Amino acid sequence: MPSLDAQGRVAALSIMTRDMHIAPDVDLDTIGAVSAGFSGADLEKLCREAVIVRSNDAATDEGRTAILQQRDFDRALTRVKPSGAIRAARRRRDHAGNDVSVCPGYAREADLLRSTILLPLLYPQRLASLGVSPPKGMLIYGPSGVGKTFIARRLARSCEGKANFLNVSCPSLLSKVVGETERNVAKLFARARSVAPAIMFLDHVECLAPVRETGDSAENTMDRLLSCLLIEMDGVVGHSSSESAVIVVAATERREMLDPAILRPGRLEVHVEMKRPREEARKEIFGFYLSRMSTNAGDSDATAALSGKLAKWIGDGATGSDIEGACRSAAMRAMKRGDAVVCERHFAM
Ligand SMILES: Nc1ncnc2c1ncn2[C@@H]1O[C@H](COP(=O)(O)OP(=O)(O)OP(=O)(O)O)[C@@H](O)[C@H]1O
Ligand SMILES: [Mg+2]
Repeated sequence: MPSLDAQGRVAALSIMTRDMHIAPDVDLDTIGAVSAGFSGADLEKLCREAVIVRSNDAATDEGRTAILQQRDFDRALTRVKPSGAIRAARRRRDHAGNDVSVCPGYAREADLLRSTILLPLLYPQRLASLGVSPPKGMLIYGPSGVGKTFIARRLARSCEGKANFLNVSCPSLLSKVVGETERNVAKLFARARSVAPAIMFLDHVECLAPVRETGDSAENTMDRLLSCLLIEMDGVVGHSSSESAVIVVAATERREMLDPAILRPGRLEVHVEMKRPREEARKEIFGFYLSRMSTNAGDSDATAALSGKLAKWIGDGATGSDIEGACRSAAMRAMKRGDAVVCERHFAM
């Protein structure tokens, strides 16, 4: 809804307060003047808030409860904010990269994650109406530091309040006590089922599902563990209702170490590779960090220009983690030199 100019706001306020009891001291011209950015809906909210303020004061202000005073509007003005400003702040936040749905430099991968995992989990009936069941699991793989854990955490934030997210570092499940690791895995899956719909994120999954050894595998502890994991995964998803749905998202740096059985359809069937970021992606990641720092880049164009330069400088092979590190080092260098803002010369270019 568009915001109004001062005259429009005064006109709208006169119509809205026409049937309200307002004291002679209420100055609609002043309220109109100080409510820049308010839309008609915001002004309506302001009037409602003024009524609430008045009714809250009723006990201490006997006899005048029904009559709105100027101070009621003044108080309401401190509580109601123009929705346009809220949207603009949200846009600014998104631009700074805080949007939960975006992983800088990896928009395609983030989209794939969202559409493969989140949408079927949250709207199972849509897929069901097409006659297919959602995937049970997804594997994110790529070199260390490219942001596999980072993207999963962002996924977790975007499903807050809609689905539960269980973040599991697989090495923490390993135990030297015979049978304890399998029990940990079983407990974990039971917990996920009890809080479904849920996404279970298995980070560093290679330590739970390494390639099976040939020979007498029945005696091998890791093989028993893998079998346990496969059994749990096979029993994991109830496709018919969202209540029972659990989707497994696993991450590894070493896809070749995983037993092919866990990568089969029905298990971790969707594979998403996160490669080292190319120049354009590196620029985006630099932009993400620079926009959160105090830099000498005055506006978004200057930040983009600096990001582009730094993306070239840091070169192929650098990961998101390296970029974050470079930004941190630059900030440390600025701090040591007593500079108030970070600029190009603080990077070790
Ligand atoms: N695309 C990115 N955008 C912004 N920050 C990133 C990105 N990728 C990595 N980072 C930063 O680097 C840190 C390390 O990344 P992360 O732990 O996700 O890497 P990883 O791929 O899981 O590595 P590993 O295989 O070693 O676990 C993140 O916490 C984040 O701060
Ligand atoms: Mg990780």
